[in-house]
Amino acid sequence: MSSQPLLSTMRAEPIRQVPYVNLPAQFAEEREQLLPLVEHALAAGDHVGGEAVALLEKEVADMCGVRHVVALNSGTDALMFALVALGIRAGDEVITPPNSFIASTSAIVHVGAIPVFADVGPDQNIDPAAIERAITSRTKAIMPVHLTGRVCEMDAISDIARRHGLRIVEDAAQSIGSTYHGRMSGALGDIGCFSLHPLKNLNAAGDGGLLATNDDGVAERVMRLRNHGMSDRNTVVEFGFVSRLDTMQAAILRLRLSRLADVVARRRRNAALYRDLLDRRHVFFPGERGDTVDTYHTFVVQVDHRDALKTWLADQGIGTAVHYPVPIHLQPAAARFGYRIGDFPVTEAQAARILTLPVNQFATPEDIAYVARQVNRFFERTRI
Ligand SMILES: Cc1ncc(COP(=O)(O)O)c(C=O)c1O
Repeated sequence: MSSQPLLSTMRAEPIRQVPYVNLPAQFAEEREQLLPLVEHALAAGDHVGGEAVALLEKEVADMCGVRHVVALNSGTDALMFALVALGIRAGDEVITPPNSFIASTSAIVHVGAIPVFADVGPDQNIDPAAIERAITSRTKAIMPVHLTGRVCEMDAISDIARRHGLRIVEDAAQSIGSTYHGRMSGALGDIGCFSLHPLKNLNAAGDGGLLATNDDGVAERVMRLRNHGMSDRNTVVEFGFVSRLDTMQAAILRLRLSRLADVVARRRRNAALYRDLLDRRHVFFPGERGDTVDTYHTFVVQVDHRDALKTWLADQGIGTAVHYPVPIHLQPAAARFGYRIGDFPVTEAQAARILTLPVNQFATPEDIAYVARQVNRFFERTRI
């Protein structure tokens, strides 16, 4: 599909509501299958860590091709426990990008380690060359973030980790089901961490997270950490946490896991439409690489006049978001690490230009075409 016919129809058209997310539509689609699962869990009085949790863990482990998956309260806990289980502690440095959701860095800070940022590339993912430059004698781990559901350059990152003796904790919060050279995100480092937050492609009806690993010791430690550090009912091996997944959530998640491939296919269809329809003279988005499957947790474009475009799209009935307008190194909470404006020029330039368009599985091809037309119309009108 060429963008030319589209550009020649740049006239006003009736407003169409295209929400950024549509959780009520998800419930409507699955209501008949989902409600009996919830009823079953409630009727059985099975609330925490029941059979559904173990089944979910096994199913995700099989999907990812790893030995263990441990279900937790959140993706943030998964990241934190991953660092604890790898022995990362006070004074150690962990390299991560400054353009993630705050949780990647919070997890590092909460184990007492020091987040060391490395800038990103045009595709918003951490730049392997910047990782290499950020390594010091205190560096212990790299935490790449597969932002938007697009896997980082893991071959280069794994090579750096091998050469410098570093561990890799993948922040795969946004990338469940994404692949890289035929392998699943979350299975490409020492530990992979997924978020099951309601806005993720595989979502709980609340918070949840998963930790994936091939390391038996790590899995055993994390299973203990999530349950007060107990090895059995009466033995506390170490002081732990409460980070168990509810049985009801696991039952819902198993249903949704069985549909994940369909969710991803619909999101990829929407992304492909954007690729065809958006006017690339004004709108930048990274290309797909042949050797990956991107799952489009988000579809992020980079544009001039971002805020004006966002307002324009809202006026046309279109919901958008910005992931993330303030880089982590410039957040007040990070002041103590001493970073300044200008330290990560690519991240900072992108923060002013990024806009997340609706790509959710409930947006129809007509919705996506409408959004693309309105984006293109904005740039036609402003005659940039
Ligand atoms: C990149 C990234 N890392 C970590 C998290 C934290 O996950 P959660 O909200 O499940 O704690 C999220 C999502 O919220 C995320 O998008």
